[in-house]
Amino acid sequence: MNSKIIGRGAEAVLIQEEGFLVKDRIKKGYRLPYLDEKLRKQRTKKEAKLLKKSSSIIKVPEVISSDEKEKIKMQFIEGKKLSDWLDKLSNSEQICEEIGKQVALLHNADIIHGDLTTSNMIYVEDFNNYEDIKPLPDNKKILNIANSSKSNITAEQASKRSLCSRDSKRTAEYNKSNFQVYFIDFGLGFTSKRIEDKAVDLHLLKQALEAKHFLYFQKFFSSILKGYNSKDKTKILEQLKKVESRGRYKKGF
Ligand SMILES: Nc1ncnc2c1ncn2[C@@H]1O[C@H](COP(=O)(O)OP(=O)(O)O)[C@@H](O)[C@H]1O
Ligand SMILES: [Mg+2]
Repeated sequence: MNSKIIGRGAEAVLIQEEGFLVKDRIKKGYRLPYLDEKLRKQRTKKEAKLLKKSSSIIKVPEVISSDEKEKIKMQFIEGKKLSDWLDKLSNSEQICEEIGKQVALLHNADIIHGDLTTSNMIYVEDFNNYEDIKPLPDNKKILNIANSSKSNITAEQASKRSLCSRDSKRTAEYNKSNFQVYFIDFGLGFTSKRIEDKAVDLHLLKQALEAKHFLYFQKFFSSILKGYNSKDKTKILEQLKKVESRGRYKKGF
C-alpha cells in the first residue's frame, strides 16, 4: 500500500494512505509508561467520538475506523492548512466569519474543541457549489420569453440574457460560499454546557490568532465574532472578558 508520513505533530505521526489519513499517537518516552498508554488511549477514543459527533454538525474528516487505543483512520482532507494560508487568502475575513459560525454550531451542541488554532483547520475550495445552481431554462422556456407579447427580443437574445443572469448568479454564489473549513484534531475536546468552557475555547482561539496572525489578528477575531452567533453569545462574550482579565492579572499587568 502506498503510504507516507506527512507530519509529526506534538503527539502523533500522521500517515497518508491513499485517500486516507492515519493519526497514530505514538509512545512518548518521557511519560511513565502506564500514564502514557492511558493518555494515548483516552485521547484517541475521545477524538474519534467527537469527530463522529461533530460530523453531523460541521465539516470534519469522516472517521473510517479506530483501534480505540492509538490509531484513527479518517478521510484525508485535501486543502490548505489555515495557519499557513489565512494571512494570504483574499477572502480571509469571510473565512474567519465561517470559522465563527462553525465554533458556534459546536458550542450550541455543547462540544468544546479544546485546541482551536488555525493549524487545526483546513481550507477547501469547493467548486461543487456550481452543481447546486439551477440549470438553465430549456430552449422552450427561452422561446416563450422571446415570443411573449411583452418582449420583443429574439430567441438568441433571450438565451444570452439567461446565460448572463446565470453567470452573475454563479459569480455571486462563488464569492459567497465556494469554500469550506474543516476542523480537525479533537483530541483535547470534550462536551460541556458550561459558559466558562465555551468562553475559554474562544479565548484560546483568540490567543492562537494573536500568536500566529498578529498582523491581522484584530480584524480576524472580529470577523470570527461576527459569525459566532451561538445561542448564549452574550453570556459567553461577557465570560470571555472575565477570562481575559484573569489572564492579564496572572501575567501581572
Ligand atoms: N484528516 C486530515 N486530512 C488532511 N490533513 C490532516 C488531517 N488530519 C491531520 N492532518 C494534518 O496533520 C497535521 C497534524 O494533525 P493533528 O490532528 O492536528 O495532530 P496533532 O495532535 O499532532 O496536532 C495537521 O495540522 C494537518 O496538516
Ligand atoms: Mg493539531
